[in-house]
Amino acid sequence: MGVRKVKENIYSVGVSDWDRTHFDEIVALPNGTSYNSYLIFGEKKTALIDTVDPVLTEAFINNLKKFNGLKIDFVVSLHAEQDHSGSIPKVLEIFSEAKVVTNEKCKELLIEHLNIPEEKFIVVGDGEELDLGGKTLKFLLTPWVHWPETMSAYLKEDKILFSCDFFGSHYATSRLFANIDELILESAKLYYAEIMMPFRNFIKVNIEKIENFDIEMIAPSHGPIWNKPSFIIDAYKEWISPSVKNKVLILYVSMHGSTKIVVNELYNRLVEYGIEVLPFNLFFTDIGKIAINAIDAATAVFAIPTFLTGPHPLGANAAYLVNAIKPKLRFMGLITSFGWGGVTIKWLKDHLKNLKADTLFEFEFKGIPKANDIEKVKEFAEKIYEAHKSIGIL
Ligand code: FEO
Repeated sequence: MGVRKVKENIYSVGVSDWDRTHFDEIVALPNGTSYNSYLIFGEKKTALIDTVDPVLTEAFINNLKKFNGLKIDFVVSLHAEQDHSGSIPKVLEIFSEAKVVTNEKCKELLIEHLNIPEEKFIVVGDGEELDLGGKTLKFLLTPWVHWPETMSAYLKEDKILFSCDFFGSHYATSRLFANIDELILESAKLYYAEIMMPFRNFIKVNIEKIENFDIEMIAPSHGPIWNKPSFIIDAYKEWISPSVKNKVLILYVSMHGSTKIVVNELYNRLVEYGIEVLPFNLFFTDIGKIAINAIDAATAVFAIPTFLTGPHPLGANAAYLVNAIKPKLRFMGLITSFGWGGVTIKWLKDHLKNLKADTLFEFEFKGIPKANDIEKVKEFAEKIYEAHKSIGIL
């Protein structure tokens, strides 16, 4: 993405990865992503904030080479995950005088993950400062957004918060600053849903912590810089709030059409009750779409047929993901069809234990749904309607 000036003596030197199709080899990246890095020139010292994913080290080093006679004194590592730390060894090889500035936990992880020698580190604690000469970095430990060692750095004189993954977005854009539109919101939401949502309580505490500072810009390590930081801070506050919307997700697989008949009936009934319904056919739905919509849905229905003696693998995959990202669902329903046997409902119950959702119904049916099966589905729709009314969202 080239080198760009953020403010006087502060440059963006990271790289865009618009060809990357998936993150963590699971969530589709419709807009690619970026690994941001920032170079800060003080009057006395120069600091590099984070590096980039090792697959793009060469492009990153080429960016650094654009600064004639560059000397890096400090490589500030805000997070040990390799999409930000993976090029540190190469940077240390080229800029051999540089020290890695990070917290104790991150130091441990960087030694374990990247074999960086212990003597290369300067360890900083919460609230400690690094004086570059006219530019001062203040380190703020912000654990669990989304690893135990994650931290932010606040550049006092320029009022910039370098937040690493926190407030990031999967968005490879040539814009340095975020254009506030649907695309950036969707990209940030996808990032939050997959990476941050399981850590909602920590996010709340960390937002309170950073709000003690006068922030003009948030410069994350993925996606564009937020020069209207209240936009993303307010979005995070809404996403982590306990409130849910009048919305039902139906996650389903249908091998012979029987589950689809039940899903259609449930869908139609719920729509008639004035409920927003999002059916996701797991055969082709990108898991990221489910994650985004799970941020604020009140209810999820898992309609997963039995495959041999357990859930259909695509259903198991989706259930595992939803359980892992821990959305604030209030209610759920479990449906399975089967041919000759199986324990799919039990499997689902055992693998959705992270969800604090009340189970409104469990339903097993065999083959093509009969008239009494359809009657039951109507009852389930009514139960969801009553449940949504009971929490005041309908
Ligand atoms: Fe962008 Fe947790 O790494």
